[in-house]
Amino acid sequence: MLAEFNNDAQKVFEKVDTQIFGDSKSASKAVAREIADLIQQKAAENKPCVLGLATGSTPIQMYAELVRLHKEEGLSFKNVYSFNLDEYFPMEPDALQSYVRFMGEQLFNHIDIPRENWNVPDGTLSEDKIADYCAAYEAKIDAMGGIDLQVLGIGGNGHIGFNESGSLANSKTRLVALDSITRIAAAGDFFGLENTPRKAITMGCQKILEAKRVVLMAWGEKKAGITKKAVEGPLTERVPASYLQEHPNATFFLDLPAAAKLKRVDTPWLVDSIEWTEQIARRAVVKLALKVEKPILQLTTDDYNYNGLNELLAKYGSAHDLNVKIFREMRDTITGWPGGKPGVDDSTRPERAEPAKKRVLIFSPHPDDDIISMGGTFQRLVDQGHEVHVAYQTSGNIAVADAEALRFIDFVNDFNGQFGFDSANSSSVLAEAEKFLSGKKKGDVDSDAVREVKGLMRVGEAKATCRFVGVPVENAHFQRLPFYETGGVKKNPAGELDVQKTVDLISEIKPHQIFAAGDLADPHGTHKVCLNIIFEAIERIKNEAFMKECYVWLYRGAWAEWPIEEIEMAVPMSPEQVLTKRYGIFKHQSQKDGVVFQGSDSREFWQRAEERNGETADLYNNLGFVEYAAMEAFRRYHFEKPEGERI
Ligand code: F6R
Repeated sequence: MLAEFNNDAQKVFEKVDTQIFGDSKSASKAVAREIADLIQQKAAENKPCVLGLATGSTPIQMYAELVRLHKEEGLSFKNVYSFNLDEYFPMEPDALQSYVRFMGEQLFNHIDIPRENWNVPDGTLSEDKIADYCAAYEAKIDAMGGIDLQVLGIGGNGHIGFNESGSLANSKTRLVALDSITRIAAAGDFFGLENTPRKAITMGCQKILEAKRVVLMAWGEKKAGITKKAVEGPLTERVPASYLQEHPNATFFLDLPAAAKLKRVDTPWLVDSIEWTEQIARRAVVKLALKVEKPILQLTTDDYNYNGLNELLAKYGSAHDLNVKIFREMRDTITGWPGGKPGVDDSTRPERAEPAKKRVLIFSPHPDDDIISMGGTFQRLVDQGHEVHVAYQTSGNIAVADAEALRFIDFVNDFNGQFGFDSANSSSVLAEAEKFLSGKKKGDVDSDAVREVKGLMRVGEAKATCRFVGVPVENAHFQRLPFYETGGVKKNPAGELDVQKTVDLISEIKPHQIFAAGDLADPHGTHKVCLNIIFEAIERIKNEAFMKECYVWLYRGAWAEWPIEEIEMAVPMSPEQVLTKRYGIFKHQSQKDGVVFQGSDSREFWQRAEERNGETADLYNNLGFVEYAAMEAFRRYHFEKPEGERI
């Protein structure tokens, strides 16, 4: 647990016990430890231990820790009975997305729980049997004496189990209609929203709330908004997780990004007396300026005092001194020279002036993240004469629509015929692909040939962007990291080969600058895995002479920007540059007009990028800086500092 956020005085605004951890791994271990202790205590009393279990991405690390405790520390599950919260309907138990399968793969197949002891709602029933089945499910839980410990995740709409917004606290186990937020979140697992079930069987809120102990876990910034509502907001059926506020023994286990919007993390000065670090001071001043809608340099002593910031003023002397300090710091983050401006004093600039021509390595997790997330900066680096390389970390092949792949294969076949090439091979690839795709069921992994074609399409698009920006195609490095190449949505964990390929590439290029997608908060996404691979590679070579000269800059993925006060380099863009970036993004034709993995945002990627870069420019402008059309933002990763002091 993080000592700095977890003293009782800081919890005054929270309506349910909440523990904040530095990362989801340590929080998951704490939950697993509590479950293990309960199982062992029950075993010592010769009693069964009844667990309520959840699926989804959240509990995966916790289940892995339980498996480890079983394998390495002899934890036995022989006295455990479990009842899962929910199952999609309809759903076959061996389907890829089935929760029966999930529980087997993540936990039950690796421990000694007897098969007859675990229960997952049955998604194969005919609809007229469900009501009786649900009543029997509840009766079975009651016959065991109720649930001793219930594990929960939280949906983006505040659901627990599949009790969507509006579910009453006394709701029973039942068939429910999934709401659109839930279906969109699940769409990736089902290869598109149109394949995603509309219904599910869920344990009702009543049974969940009757559990003697409830632990709810939430990880990542995507959960920060809803977690705040559930913990600090009113108890309401709009947010079923808020029912836990009245539970006598419930705890929220959060990682820091999921806790980021709680008052004790976001505005700790309003909660308790705090130790003012430079970063918290900057955050407080920026928040104050935005709240009172004044530029930083116009904040007055009264503004500080009326908004709970008198301690901060006391530390810095006067509003004037503090305003000027923060204004200068933020002003110095703005630069049109992301590779450093040659021949000038660089002491207050984000990048060094020398060497004037730098070698730059941009890591792009998918083939379009470079242009979407830092297209303006990419263009400037090339225009300002730096030697720019791009490493495309994954093939991105699962995100191409089947019909598009077929169109390309068809084209190649026609091309061969038209220009007299031997088209026997391309005809057979076309025939096989047509056959395969016509019989492809939702969620099926593509044939090797179709995957290969999809990957090649994305290679072509990335090369087109490089040509457009002015990077020679030999500087585009297609890494095809093996962890990604499962063909399915679920990826393998990163391995030695992923890291080695990355070490080799960095060592070959010896860059002065590395840019990487810094999605620190998304515990399972491809971006985070790609980032971890880079971090591990850097860790191995950080003592090489060239790495001592290397700055690592982190940009954010397509969805969110760094908090304004954390930005260390902001690269402005003119309206023309915004348009140029848009055309660069257009090169990724397979990712336009209704993509396979749209996520919860219906905007096209170029729209998201433009809006986000425009918002950053507006924020700077509101704080009293020059008005630009758009800005791209970066933070530095200080790998040379000891762990714990780095971001
Ligand atoms: C899963 C369940 C759901 C999830 C919730 C969060 O059995 O009942 O309530 O806990 O949707 O899902 P993830 O963990 O995937 O973010």
